[in-house]
Amino acid sequence: MTQPPRRQLKLGAILAGVGTDHASWRDPDLAGDASIDINWYIENARLAEAAKFDLVFIVDSPFITPDTAPHFLNRLEPLTLLSALAVTTSRIGLVGTLTTSYWEPYNVARQFGSLDHISGGRAGWNVVTTGLEGASRNYGREEHYEHGERYERAGEFVEVVQGLWDSYEDDAFPRDKAAGVFLDKTKQHALDHKGKFYSVAGPLALSRSPQGQPVIFQAGVSGAGRDLGAHIAEGVFAGVDTFEEGQEYYADLKARAVELGRNPDHISVLPGLAPIIADTDEEARALAEAQAGKREIDKLLVELGRAFNYHDFRQYPLDGPFPDVSNLSLNSYKGRAERIVRIAAAEKLTLRETAERFAGWKFDFVGSPQTIADEIERWFEGRACDGFILRVTRPGDFALFREKVVPLLQAKGLFRTEYEHDTLRGHLGLPVPEHRWRKAPALAAAE
Ligand SMILES: Cc1cc2nc3c(=O)[nH]c(=O)nc-3n(C[C@H](O)[C@H](O)[C@H](O)COP(=O)(O)O)c2cc1C
Repeated sequence: MTQPPRRQLKLGAILAGVGTDHASWRDPDLAGDASIDINWYIENARLAEAAKFDLVFIVDSPFITPDTAPHFLNRLEPLTLLSALAVTTSRIGLVGTLTTSYWEPYNVARQFGSLDHISGGRAGWNVVTTGLEGASRNYGREEHYEHGERYERAGEFVEVVQGLWDSYEDDAFPRDKAAGVFLDKTKQHALDHKGKFYSVAGPLALSRSPQGQPVIFQAGVSGAGRDLGAHIAEGVFAGVDTFEEGQEYYADLKARAVELGRNPDHISVLPGLAPIIADTDEEARALAEAQAGKREIDKLLVELGRAFNYHDFRQYPLDGPFPDVSNLSLNSYKGRAERIVRIAAAEKLTLRETAERFAGWKFDFVGSPQTIADEIERWFEGRACDGFILRVTRPGDFALFREKVVPLLQAKGLFRTEYEHDTLRGHLGLPVPEHRWRKAPALAAAE
């Protein structure tokens, strides 16, 4: 009897330039302008591709303050950046973040549809609703949309974008020069969408691409965020900190998707990962301690405050109990902020302890390459995730992961040694979505 193929780990790389924390930029091997240097992105995307990663991932948000972490302060716009990567890489998926709260569906359909063509079927869109309230003032609004409304708008927004992506059937363009027929007009479809938030006629002036439609990613941990993910996501950037949280989120999200009649294998759950790796576990622990020792508490308080719309926690006594923030609007990174409040209260944490625990990216992935590979396997086999999105900033850390950890994952049979597909859908095991205007049964898988 033939064995079913083993479930495969997915790996992404967040290209985070000088870092989403306040410390990485000081690494002597990292150029100070990495976040705005296209050559830095090209080099790291190529390194990720050589290591057979599924995708690179660009996070984004349209709001900053003077205290914001270095990468967020000064960085390239995702679609412009990904277009450059599309022509300098050939296999790796290209996922970019764009907010549904401050864009128009027609623009987004056009941008990601174009990226999918330029890259030969490697585009993915990370759907976010924007956590930070200040973004509203960059788009002519006094107030950020309320959390629930953000998600309602996002659902309709994605529906419109996907509708626009199906403006043409796959064989709409005969381009018959002899007969003078460029377009088969019966295969062009206007969307004529009139909904609660959007009114979009269509059609979009762009045909379907090699993967039919770009892949949909999503990030949001609240109930509303999970519901949206269950409806639309084919990959999620999961905001979980521990193995148990990962298991809970994984089971919950996939159960919600099954409820909606979806195949749970068609959603990859991918938490962020920022491991500390050294030759031995002892060295890695010493490194982790040294790094923790260097982290300034003021900066940690800023990173903690981000989930609370950059609330200034520096005003409270550090060793007093985590302050009562019940008067604050939790309209920002709501799911995360509520979890921090809940755990700080349950475990009676001080402000300092809360900042140390929740600022930045938190995982106990500290150890030798073998320890890191074993921990990744434990999360994967324990259904706490389907893979990870590695944060790429310091060159030495990325090299250790590619050169020491990836081969161990390959030796375990968890991760590919060669690409088997040319599209992001192919890498993630996703089918090409059926064209909504075709009555025919679902099209076959990507390749
Ligand atoms: C892991 C994770 C990553 C996110 N990444 C972004 C991002 O890059 N840009 C952005 O504007 N919002 C981002 N968000 C914000 C969400 O889209 C959302 O607006 C906010 O988190 C509130 O939703 P929630 O309460 O469901 O988490 C992210 C959220 C999570 C949980």
